[in-house]
Amino acid sequence: MIKKIDAVAQVTKSAHVFIFDRVTGKPLFPIREMPVPKSSLPDEMVWPTQPVPTLPAPFARQTLAETELNPYAANRDSVVAQYRRAKKGPFQPLSKTPTLLLPGADGGPEWGGAAVDPEGILYVNANEMAWLFSLSATPKVDELVHLSPGNRLYTTYCVACHGPDRKGNPSSGYPSLVNIGQRRDREYVAKLITSGKGMMPGLSVLTAGQKQELLAFLFNDEKVETVTTTSGLPAKPGPYVPYRFNGYTKFLDSKGYPAIKPPWGTLTAIDLNTGHQIWQKTLGEFPELTKRGLLPTGTENYGGPVVTKGGLLFIAATKDGMFRAYDKKTGHLLWQTQLPAAGFATPSTYEVNGKQFIVIACGGAKLGVPKGDSYVAFALP
Ligand code: HEC
Repeated sequence: MIKKIDAVAQVTKSAHVFIFDRVTGKPLFPIREMPVPKSSLPDEMVWPTQPVPTLPAPFARQTLAETELNPYAANRDSVVAQYRRAKKGPFQPLSKTPTLLLPGADGGPEWGGAAVDPEGILYVNANEMAWLFSLSATPKVDELVHLSPGNRLYTTYCVACHGPDRKGNPSSGYPSLVNIGQRRDREYVAKLITSGKGMMPGLSVLTAGQKQELLAFLFNDEKVETVTTTSGLPAKPGPYVPYRFNGYTKFLDSKGYPAIKPPWGTLTAIDLNTGHQIWQKTLGEFPELTKRGLLPTGTENYGGPVVTKGGLLFIAATKDGMFRAYDKKTGHLLWQTQLPAAGFATPSTYEVNGKQFIVIACGGAKLGVPKGDSYVAFALP
């Protein structure tokens, strides 16, 4: 017997779908309390379980086996070393040891959300992007006071990855900064500090003066022998926070591609009536990799899909700047076109004088792709 239920479905960054009766809030598929790892930090307590729906199954990888590292990674040895060092598995609390976070800090699904049709089929795009998150001990003010301003800034912002002796950990992908002046000029380093690169997060909190102090320290021409300023010291004494976050770091190879095996972006159709997946497709491609003979890998994607009564699913969202139409029943790609800039947005569809349009905002700019400033609307002739 078929029974119609008013339901509400919520996708989460962890790539789960929670489905409830919209009136009573009762879960339509049982939710189980899954035991999760304890924190290894002194004095930190985490809740022992997390709620996970028994159905639908998660639509992105939740953890990673070593065999799922990118076989084409340019610096495979260092990728494997980073993987082995990391803590893995869902809901792994952060610690000084990097935690491999999957499907990623931005999801899984992201702010684009999912589309759903009245038959109860949910369509959702997702990222599968591993990140490495870690903490380091907060330097204490009485340790910083004795250092030069540039060294204070280095100790506060850089030491976690480049080490107290600036030797980094090259086999894990963290370069040495010893005598950086022989390899790089100040302008390059100044830009890099703000923009970040690969696994290095960008840092925008430094003032121009502090940046000069930090550069002087890195280029070994710091004039200040003894400390006369307060630069690089915390502005006001706050509560003592024993650990700090080392930044949003993607797990990438040295060429900037994800260090994990594809898919890196997906599009999935899930039947909310049964809780089962109907299809899953790779979403997006790196043309230069496809040219080398790889199957489309999928790309990171931001922005959601739109589904029509007529049986089409439209989505942009990918880094490759394409706009695509799929057969919503089969997930078969029917049409694609290159946008003037990547459409990190959800399309909108509307009708004027009996003619149906679909429009997408092409803003680009995320994920290092060019910026755009146009809306592009499509209609059948
Ligand atoms: C979370 C870890 C992390 C932190 C924190 C960090 N870096 Fe890096 N840094 C890296 C990684 C990884 C690379 C290599 C990036 C690449 O080439 O893909 C790098 C590269 C660099 C390079 C380029 C080295 C070369 O040989 O070209 C410089 C210079 C640098 N970092 C300076 C800094 C400074 C200064 C700070 C503090 C303000 C800092 N980094 C903080 C991880 C980090």
